[in-house]
Amino acid sequence: MSNFMLQNAAALFRATFGVAPLAAASAPGRVNLLGEHTDYNGGPVLPIAIEARTVVAAGPADEGVLELVSTRDGQPQRIDYRSDRITGSGAYLAGVLRELAAQRAGPPTGGARVAVASDVPIGAGLASSAALTVAAARALDLLGGGRLTARQLAGVAFRAEHDHVGVRCGIMDQMSAALARAGCALFLECASLASRHVPARGRMLLVDTGVRHELAAGALNARRAECEAAVERLRLELPELRWLASWPAGWLLRLKRSLPEPLRSRALHVVGETARTRFGAQLLARGYVKRFGLLLFESHESCRRLYECSAPELDLVVAAARRAGALGARLTGAGWGGAVLVLLPRGKTVEAKVVRHIRRAFTVAYAREPAISSVRASGGVRREPVR
Ligand code: GLA
Repeated sequence: MSNFMLQNAAALFRATFGVAPLAAASAPGRVNLLGEHTDYNGGPVLPIAIEARTVVAAGPADEGVLELVSTRDGQPQRIDYRSDRITGSGAYLAGVLRELAAQRAGPPTGGARVAVASDVPIGAGLASSAALTVAAARALDLLGGGRLTARQLAGVAFRAEHDHVGVRCGIMDQMSAALARAGCALFLECASLASRHVPARGRMLLVDTGVRHELAAGALNARRAECEAAVERLRLELPELRWLASWPAGWLLRLKRSLPEPLRSRALHVVGETARTRFGAQLLARGYVKRFGLLLFESHESCRRLYECSAPELDLVVAAARRAGALGARLTGAGWGGAVLVLLPRGKTVEAKVVRHIRRAFTVAYAREPAISSVRASGGVRREPVR
């Protein structure tokens, strides 16, 4: 992130509210390397934070009031953040304020002014909402003295999105935005919340298909309901089963016999992806990048066939990357659109070939270019200077 964005947020704050912000913080988007739709099933994930970030500059306002402005539209809003009828980014920020109040943290006046600047694309599967809520949680907590730990900030951000906005997401995005470390992937077991940092090796590209599915939140909620229905039925076989991801990998036959479609396919994805992610984290830690890459292809196939969360544009990019010699490629994030992560082999020539192939295949099929950028694992939430 450049200083430019920080200056943008602070300048917008001053221009809108006529005073300087008292605190600022930034948090990153994320790319998930492996472990898709496992978090809300109690399984592991392996995200890295990307360089794109959201900056929130904050100051106090009157009790119950949220004054909000963003560089995306420049239109200031004034909201009673305790009311139920808030939509858009205001709903996320209102959720953060309510959660902070429940923790007795946040602005001592009980209200806040917030200016937001971001270069995390919205709807690309890069967790733009977690970048916003985690950055906001930090900036607003700083107004009250900055008492919360990174994990507590992730909790505030998670409940803001899950309980207040009503997206039945898992904890991955918020934990990544809060805990990520530069140069590393975050291996997180979502049932216990145990985590460790794993060196992120290999060169990576992000190919944004530009397909935006407003439906993603609805589809995510629907998948989650299917997973819960699967757990309920599997409990007849294994009464102590709490999470779908805890189903024993050696009992696949029993799982298949116990579940009708589509619950069977959803459960097979979650159990397979759980094993892949734990194995993948070990491979990555030991530097076996090639074998790690194969797991990415497998994961994509499982998302496509079993979890049915892919899209033709994503499949095309993965296939083109594979043909051109990429070590691995898969959709990243919820799916149904968004971006593909590509793991590159060493060498400039083959890298250029992969990019060329993807670009050509995509342009021929869809008569437009996908946005291709390189990915570097960056750090999590941080306080930013206000002047
Ligand atoms: C969305 C959710 C995450 C996770 C992914 C799928 O990004 O916010 O919690 O469930 O989908 O892995």
